Amino acid sequence: MASDKEKVFIFDTTLRDGEQSPGATLNIQEKLEIAKQLAKLGVDIIEAGFPFSSPGDYEAVKLIGKEVQGPVICALARARKEDIDKAAGALESAKKKRIHTFIATSDIHIEHKLKTTREKVLKTAVEMVRYAKSFTDNVEFSPEDAGRSDPKFLFEILEATIEVGATTVNIPDTVGYTVPSEFGGLIKAIKENVPNINKAVISVHCHNDLGLAVANSLSAVVNGARQVECTINGIGERAGNCSLEEIVMILKTRPTLGLHTDIDSTQIYRSSRLVSTLTNMLVQPNKAIVGANAFAHESGIHQDGFLKYKRTYEIMNPEDVGLLTSKLPLGPRSGRHALKEKLSELGYHLNEEQLDKAFIRFKEIADKKKQVVDRDLESIIRDEQRIAETTSHYELENLQIACGTGLPTASVCLRRTSDNVFLKDSALGTGPVDAIYKTINKIVQIPNELIEFSVQSVTEGIDALGEVTIRIQQDSLIYNGHAANTDITIASAKAYLNALNKLIDAINRGEKILAQKEELKSKKGV
Ligand code: KIV
Ligand code: ZN
Repeated sequence: MASDKEKVFIFDTTLRDGEQSPGATLNIQEKLEIAKQLAKLGVDIIEAGFPFSSPGDYEAVKLIGKEVQGPVICALARARKEDIDKAAGALESAKKKRIHTFIATSDIHIEHKLKTTREKVLKTAVEMVRYAKSFTDNVEFSPEDAGRSDPKFLFEILEATIEVGATTVNIPDTVGYTVPSEFGGLIKAIKENVPNINKAVISVHCHNDLGLAVANSLSAVVNGARQVECTINGIGERAGNCSLEEIVMILKTRPTLGLHTDIDSTQIYRSSRLVSTLTNMLVQPNKAIVGANAFAHESGIHQDGFLKYKRTYEIMNPEDVGLLTSKLPLGPRSGRHALKEKLSELGYHLNEEQLDKAFIRFKEIADKKKQVVDRDLESIIRDEQRIAETTSHYELENLQIACGTGLPTASVCLRRTSDNVFLKDSALGTGPVDAIYKTINKIVQIPNELIEFSVQSVTEGIDALGEVTIRIQQDSLIYNGHAANTDITIASAKAYLNALNKLIDAINRGEKILAQKEELKSKKGV
């Protein structure tokens, strides 16, 4: 879209820095799903991973480079040949690619982490940018911990790396230490003191340790930066990164700043939900833009003003971030046609078979809930997609729970799809979910360890759909399972079966799925 405003490039690092959030490990298929959604969202660059850090990251970057069209696909590499080789290898089939190489420039990092000197850092940076250039023209250089680096040394290293071909120079506030006036001032100083700065795009990468990542990024773009590195829901190392949805909506809501992005903001809400579900990182209700309360008006005075004229208390339209306020929520009497219309309004275009399945699920839920809202429908569709993507070795046929003050007991009947045999058993547990899992284990008999279990309510209210996410581990490989149901014990059983079906698939294929291990993250060293 042509605009008289200057463009700010959106560099999404959800799959790299975001995935470094403790507990946010994603498998390759999940990364691909997120990357496809990021392309729909319209990000300019996807940092898909750090190929040297683990085989899983390597494969994910490779797959994303092959399958995702539109954005530039970027791979991270320390300023080392072996890292850059891996990044270049993983990016081989990407049509548009970028290598992002970094080395720390603050004295505190040079002295205590790298145990070297400024001179050697400068030399390495220049050599490695030059080396990265031998694989692609599109090279980004980051002086790590720039926010605490000596500005003079920073100017020197930026000039030298641009000289040998860096097309983007990224200024990371790695530890989230700076404040907006200072960080904006640093960008201004870089523009004034790096003679060849007009040959590169200035990027910023702010961490949120003091809650200033968005404010610092904003101050940077106001002072001349033209790329922001950010993540969906602001996830990332420690307190996270600049939140994509916040910086994008600031620039959109305040046009007088004279800046724009190419983001399709109506895809924001869906991207946020996807990342939250797959990373299992809940979004706090009061989170700007995508929190459950971001567009809710509670106090009487606010409601009164809002009803008289919505701009009294609403600075953005919920529709602009993809929150469709249902004029016509569906209910038990809604038919197949109404469901089809509503789903296509939400961006889901299902074939007849998919629609049949979705309609059965919708009816089950509509019978239990007064109203089926957009978030319920999205949850149903995602659930159906997950079922379609996984080979079903075992299906839940029946589940009975007895619990209360006595010992919880579960009776489970599963259908083994290979021979259509129904298998029944029962077990006691410390709680109903424990009893269900013990019973399923007795039937399926595949050793595994449950390492994570969480339940999230899809909407408010006692009749809400509950989404269960679990992770199981076997031989250090991790398998995720998800399911949604108004009954959380059923959702728990189905989520467990979803993960077990993936594990059985891997055993049947006799190959090691490249599941990411938490401990591999530490190898990344960033
Ligand atoms: O925070 C940081 O400095 C980084 C770099 C690799 C850009 O993530
Ligand atoms: Zn970072």
